[in-house]
This record gives sequence, structure tokens and C-alpha cells, in this order.
Amino acid sequence: MHKNFINTENWSKSELEDLLTVAGELKNNPFGQNLKNKSFALLFLNPSMRTRTSFEIGIQQLGGIAVLLQPGKDAWGIEFNNNVVMDGDAEEHIKEVAAVLSTYVDAIAVRAFPKFISWEDDKQDKVIQAFKKYASVPIINMETIVHPCQELALMMTVKKHLGEVKNKKFLMTWTYQPKPLNTAVANSGISISSKFGMDVTLLCPNKHYILDEKYIELATKNCETQGATFTITHDIEEAYKNADFVYAKSWGALPFYGNPEEEWKQRRKYQHFMVDEHKMGMTNNAKFSHCLPLRRNIKATDAVMDADYCVAIEEAENRLHVQKAMMLSLFGEKI
Ligand code: CP
Repeated sequence: MHKNFINTENWSKSELEDLLTVAGELKNNPFGQNLKNKSFALLFLNPSMRTRTSFEIGIQQLGGIAVLLQPGKDAWGIEFNNNVVMDGDAEEHIKEVAAVLSTYVDAIAVRAFPKFISWEDDKQDKVIQAFKKYASVPIINMETIVHPCQELALMMTVKKHLGEVKNKKFLMTWTYQPKPLNTAVANSGISISSKFGMDVTLLCPNKHYILDEKYIELATKNCETQGATFTITHDIEEAYKNADFVYAKSWGALPFYGNPEEEWKQRRKYQHFMVDEHKMGMTNNAKFSHCLPLRRNIKATDAVMDADYCVAIEEAENRLHVQKAMMLSLFGEKI
């Protein structure tokens, strides 16, 4: 039994499959009391619509209690560095926050996006690691440099539509957006699809948009273990050809991290990476999805978002079911 849900790296394929099976049962039978008397602190250091709603509703549906905290807004700002003179905006230290919350709640869920100043710093995932270190209750990742809850929802959706996913072609495509965004969903997309033995293609505009080597190595190793392939390409036609599932996300180029003006000089050249009907027409009748939120006619066209093959809403719904399954698992509860 796992104590935390910080990423899926240490969860085996069969453990994740078990979660998806339970999620499927919860989809058909959503209500229960298996989390009765369990309380959760949901800490959002960044905005959310889907994550906040699906966690609050999911916890309620299983009889538990959720408390929403937004440090810096309706809760005191938190200092995460040690041995600092706290003369900035933060009113309290993670050591006290984690210790106090651990006396009130049974689990702490955290959303903490990167700061977009230094990738070397952000890639250490310091906020969630600090909660793991200083709290005595389970820690759940609601998106930091990976988005493991989204991973589960994505794979539940992929399996529903493709059935056996092994050696089906999963395309993780970069798409345009005016601002450089978090790599979390892309890191997660290649991690979970490779773990489930899909032939994974990462399409991005040029070498600067290749994801951090940790996730490239992880996906490569997963594919080797599963007898699948991992391919990186900058060729749109090659990438979309015969794809069975297209997953889009925009992210920032890591070599220009913390330097959005320089990154823009790259980014502005690649608006044609937007997902459209022509690209989807090159696939093997693929389904399309995105984690949402999505800017229409920037990241994907109206026609793609409104097409029958777009399963983004279903993936968003599945967040509710997979998170409930994951929370039950952390407490050793069954449905
Ligand atoms: N996909 C996702 O995490 O959505 P929110 O940012 O709205 O929570």
C-alpha cells in the first residue's frame, strides 16, 4: 500500500490498473461512506476549476470532508526555504503548516506550479517534497511538475476507447499558446502512456521543446520494458500518421526558462501546431483529448473540440472517479 500519491513512478502498472478498475466501478456507483470521518486539506497555490471541484465533490460523495486553503489569499502565505529570515510575504513556515494540518486532517493535497524562474530549482519539486517531509499524513499531488491525477483520468479514457492499448500509437503533441506553460501534463502524458506499453511519439517544434531528460529517460525505459517504441519528432505529418490517440498540450521551452521574451521568439513561429481537422485526418481515426483548460482556435480548432472524436470532457469527468479510487487506495479502503 502506498502512503502518498505524488507521482506514478513508483506505482506499478498493475497497481494503476487496479485503481482504474475501481474508478470504473465508482463511475457506475458513485456514492458511499468509505471516507466517512476522513478529512482532507486541499491547498491551492494556483488557480483551478476541475481539480478543486472534482476533489471536493468526490470526497463528499464518499462521506469525507474537504477544507479548501489558498495560501497567500485566504490562508497565510507559506515559506518553503529553510534557514531564512522570513521578512518577505510569507507569514509562516512549511514546518508549522505541515505539522498543524497533520493534527487536523487525514491527508493533504497540494497544487504548486513551478515558479518559471529556474528549471533547475523547479524540477526539484520542493513544495510537495517539503509537505512529504514535514507532514505525518498522506500527501496528494494536484499538479506540480507532474499531474498524476490527470494521468489516471487520461489512461481511463484511452482504455475506454482503444480497449487493449499495448502498441497503439499515442501522440503527445505540443500545441501553440501565447505564453510558455508548465511541462507537467506533457511529462505525465508520456509517463503513463509508456508505462501502459503504448508506442509513444512526442511531437514538438524543435529541440528546445523536448521535455526534461528525466521524463524522456523514464518514457524510453518504460517503452523498452513493455516492448513498445518511444519516438521524438518535429515532423507533423510523421507524428500524426496512423496515431490512435492524440493528446495535446502547450509547454515552455526549457532552455529559455525564466526568459519569456526569448522563448517568444521561438514560440511565435509555431502557431501552425494547433490541432485541426486536417491533422486529425492523417490519423487512424484517432480520439483527441486535452487536459483543459483550452483556448479554442489557439490550441485546437472549434471543429476539433466539437467533433465526436474529442473526448476531453470525458477525461475531465474521469478525474472525479480516478481521484476517488486513489484516495480509497491510500487509506486501504475498498468500495
Ligand atoms: N486539468 C486541470 O487540472 O484543470 P484545472 O486547472 O481547472 O484544475
